[in-house]
Amino acid sequence: MARPLTAAVDLEAILHNYRYAKKLQPSCKAFAVVKSNAYGHGAVEVSRYLDKEADAFAVAAIEEAIVLREAGIESPILLLEGVFEGDEWSLCEQHGFWAALENAQQMDELIASQAKIEKVFLKLDSGMHRLGVDKEAAPGFVEALKATGQVGEVVLMTHFACADDLSDLITMQQLTYFEQTRQSIGEIEASVANSAAIMKWSVPEGGWIRPGIMLYGISPFAEVSGRALGLRPAMTLSTKVISTRQLKKGDKVGYGLGYEAEEDHVLATIAVGYGDGYPRHAQNGTPLQINGQEACLAGRVSMDMLTVRMQDYSVAPAMGQEVVLWGGDVPVEEVADYAGTIGYELVTRMTARPHYRYLRGDDS
Ligand SMILES: Cc1ncc(COP(=O)(O)O)c(C=O)c1O
Repeated sequence: MARPLTAAVDLEAILHNYRYAKKLQPSCKAFAVVKSNAYGHGAVEVSRYLDKEADAFAVAAIEEAIVLREAGIESPILLLEGVFEGDEWSLCEQHGFWAALENAQQMDELIASQAKIEKVFLKLDSGMHRLGVDKEAAPGFVEALKATGQVGEVVLMTHFACADDLSDLITMQQLTYFEQTRQSIGEIEASVANSAAIMKWSVPEGGWIRPGIMLYGISPFAEVSGRALGLRPAMTLSTKVISTRQLKKGDKVGYGLGYEAEEDHVLATIAVGYGDGYPRHAQNGTPLQINGQEACLAGRVSMDMLTVRMQDYSVAPAMGQEVVLWGGDVPVEEVADYAGTIGYELVTRMTARPHYRYLRGDDS
């Protein structure tokens, strides 16, 4: 006996999507970006499955990287935000982590630590104005890093602000800025592309791509689903109908009585809520499937439950029927849209509460 909410994660789909990213940029090596618990999919399970094939992994911070090492991940791991405190540099050496570096303080702390780091990714601020050094400072940073004798190789990296917007010229401007900086430095490897850039922009040959959201089969673009881009959605969030009742036209439902029946129909209550990661701001009408048929949210999202109805009023949901919240034929991107957010947020906000089930190639 258990609450029937399950997050099934198809690890073979994630491997397929990783291979797809590499196929799109065949001259590049690829990080598998598994920060934030692999975007809610389970960093250890995902990384273990990809470990034999991934060129390297990328996480936000050293805590996430240590969890992976302790779980037996042997591939290189990059800290995308570098170190937050100077004493992390010696841990980086101990565990063989690679690190981004984006300011003079991190550089001073690296020198003071005397740690030996195989690869440092110097972050260039090419226009996003969040992290990184500018074009004028970059060559000096590269020289200084080499002069320490502590760093095996320096890679020049940047991040795009608007790669998901194909009509916005800022990505071209950022690429030009990046290439100008690269030329002023001389021979140096590059790392620029997130999922959107991998799929839709022309990025420098060679070097390192950094696919994140696309690994999980989710689109970085507002107007198109992951499946339409050739990706395989990895997570299916499903539960069951735990109660039903007949509503009459005009009956109201749930907290704030936020749904009113437009005609007589059967209402189903299902076991999932915002305490599991389902978005509280999802609107009436948010799509889902009951027993393989189109259904939708009917009432405000509670912590542990939702109320829902079939799209076709003539069909009645029944106790115990399977409900898919996203995955399969219910794109997470569409659910996110009804909640005023993006697929990235829905999956990364999943809690530990659902039962996670991992599907491997032989049983998916
Ligand atoms: C520096 C960096 N590179 C790559 C990624 C992966 O981006 P995406 O999930 O859009 O592929 C991120 C994600 O936020 C990032 O911060």
